[in-house]
Amino acid sequence: MSETKNEKRFLSGVQPTGKLHLGNYFGAIKQHIELQNEGTCFYFIADYHALTTIRDPKQLSENTRDVALDYLALGLDPTKAIFFRQSDVPEVTELAWILSTVTNMGLLERAVSYKDKVERGIEASVGLFMYPVLMAADILIYLSHVVPVGHDQIQHIEMTADMAGKFNRAYGDIFPIPTYRLDKEAKVPGIDGQKMSKSYNNTIEIFAEGNTLKKKVMGIVTDSTPVEAPKDPAKCNVFALYSLFATDDEKAELAERYRAGGMGYGEAKKMLLAKMDEYFAPAREKRKQLAKDPSTVEDILKEGAKRARSVARKTMDRVRKAVGMKPPVIPLAFDRV
Ligand code: ADP
Ligand code: TRP
Repeated sequence: MSETKNEKRFLSGVQPTGKLHLGNYFGAIKQHIELQNEGTCFYFIADYHALTTIRDPKQLSENTRDVALDYLALGLDPTKAIFFRQSDVPEVTELAWILSTVTNMGLLERAVSYKDKVERGIEASVGLFMYPVLMAADILIYLSHVVPVGHDQIQHIEMTADMAGKFNRAYGDIFPIPTYRLDKEAKVPGIDGQKMSKSYNNTIEIFAEGNTLKKKVMGIVTDSTPVEAPKDPAKCNVFALYSLFATDDEKAELAERYRAGGMGYGEAKKMLLAKMDEYFAPAREKRKQLAKDPSTVEDILKEGAKRARSVARKTMDRVRKAVGMKPPVIPLAFDRV
């Protein structure tokens, strides 16, 4: 992999807070995989961030392993992208502290996701409040240019740009000002029509199969238009989800059948189920193989951490110097990596 000066750097993270779903895939993971051929990619499992909502150590480590398996099965190629656990690069927490000293309380107080989470009953810890600062550190420590995410993360990237600008004005131009990148499916609806999210309990999991998957798909909320009556595809969750998998012709064909009447939502749900089974079949197979070989997955994450950490260290040397500190006195040879 080349890491030349002019190369674009993409970076993104996903929290290991539960099973990944179609919203994660079509909003974020799909573009992460596609971008592997367009620049240097850093993708990580945001386990420090997950501590704001998970207090069960076993659950945190199992979820982390699950996200690693999911990504690798869905096509993340560790020879192209740098794939690692956030906590394997502890320097990021140091940068978060330094950034917090140039971040206004007012900026963080405007964070929509903080307010949302507190409203949903998540403890209003200092960590949860600082969440966007740690996220800015994630992005800036690897000198990233573009952050491919779903719609709900836009405000966080804008806050990151704000922090980078303030740091640069105070200490000199160290950080590129990052921008976000949305896929065309930046807001995938859940089975109830709200945004699909682990925290709304309305997800369809990427790796669900058989009866579990069937139950979820058959449970998608639809209106009570009778079978014979014409239906509006633009107002139907099943149609929206089917569209994620279908070609333009297939979409047009189903839309026509909706408008003509005589087709029930149950039939559309079966078509969606068949599409999902077909689309994810190779990834499901690959995931099963990978799950049998935990040491390979661990080796991939370790190798990714080594590469990520060496970039992070270089940035931190510059940051520490810029603010008036020397590199840490413990020689690097004592480190484990
Ligand atoms: P969740 O809301 O389920 O907790 P995360 O916050 O962990 O999901 O999101 C991980 C990535 O997936 C982020 O880039 C986020 O923007 C994207 N994402 C999550 N839900 C959706 C959705 N319904 N539509 C599009 N993108 C989504
Ligand atoms: N906050 C992101 C989410 O919930 C996860 C995340 C942490 C992230 N650090 C990041 C995403 C840096 C992009 C860049 O989805």
